[in-house]
Amino acid sequence: MNNRPLLLDCDTGIDDALALTYLLNCDTDLVGISTVSGNTSAQQASANTLALLALAGRPGIPVAVGEHDPRTGAYRGGAPHVHGGNGVGDVSLPGAGTPSDETGPEMLLRLSRVHAGELDVVAIGPLTNIARALDQDPALPQRIHRLIIMGGAVWVPGNTTDHAEANIYNDAAAAAQVLTAGFDVTLVPLDVTLQHTFTDDDAALLEDSGHPLHLALGTMLRRYIDFYESVDGVRAAPLHDPLAAAIATGEVAITAARSVAIQVLAEDTEDRGRTMAADGRPQVQVVTGASADADAAIRARLLSTSRHQGVTQ
Ligand code: BDR
Ligand code: CA
Repeated sequence: MNNRPLLLDCDTGIDDALALTYLLNCDTDLVGISTVSGNTSAQQASANTLALLALAGRPGIPVAVGEHDPRTGAYRGGAPHVHGGNGVGDVSLPGAGTPSDETGPEMLLRLSRVHAGELDVVAIGPLTNIARALDQDPALPQRIHRLIIMGGAVWVPGNTTDHAEANIYNDAAAAAQVLTAGFDVTLVPLDVTLQHTFTDDDAALLEDSGHPLHLALGTMLRRYIDFYESVDGVRAAPLHDPLAAAIATGEVAITAARSVAIQVLAEDTEDRGRTMAADGRPQVQVVTGASADADAAIRARLLSTSRHQGVTQ
């Protein structure tokens, strides 16, 4: 298991909540969390994150509110049809804690200096915070060990438009900038995340565990499954963000990947947010397969909350 210092950049979000809980239950050194607008606003994502940390018995991890608006244009109101009006399936979480004084980009820049050459960044929302940090310091990639991104649809259709995946679509200009900035990138796109799903059985396991965090996650998961059933006709929700987190920790092995340059179409056309494999450099590692036991590994980690962290039920 990778125990490097890790920064999570997220738009919390139902699957972000699962990814956060997964990371909390691993022996990762989660040194900070920054939020960004995507599934919900950066402010609401930060409130969701603080509440989840409190439920997990881990209130000490700093949470920075990041960028509200994408690089061009304005925040478009999130994805309430997917993630509910509050980002977490309209599950009411207890108010908890206050965000840090620093912004998301400031947190990333500070931690990149404190842990120069060691810090892994797991980005599971739009890439606005990372792009803004690059504006301030183009040498940032040299201080980041690895950037693991959930985003893109390279050889499969998109989930927001025919070709675009949501995280990239929501700030295509930021994605174009980040994917060519020289980070050591592992891209975890829909090509692989759609192969790994949770069902009502997983929601039931969470709901029945008795832990308040699990109950909240199980209720959210039902809502997420409802959405995917409305689109695909199947009661199964992809593990987009948890899979990226599990690849970042090294618990889930990559079984297929290609190194290619990724061209992001950032212009405001119907192709905005499309991620296309291209010749040239810089190349990124695009994951197309993950080990078959990924779902079981993520499930086991999620359910280990009380035992692992000693939170009373
Ligand atoms: C990605 O978009 C968001 O809705 C999810 O949280 C995930 O990060 C999937 O396309
Ligand atoms: Ca997300």
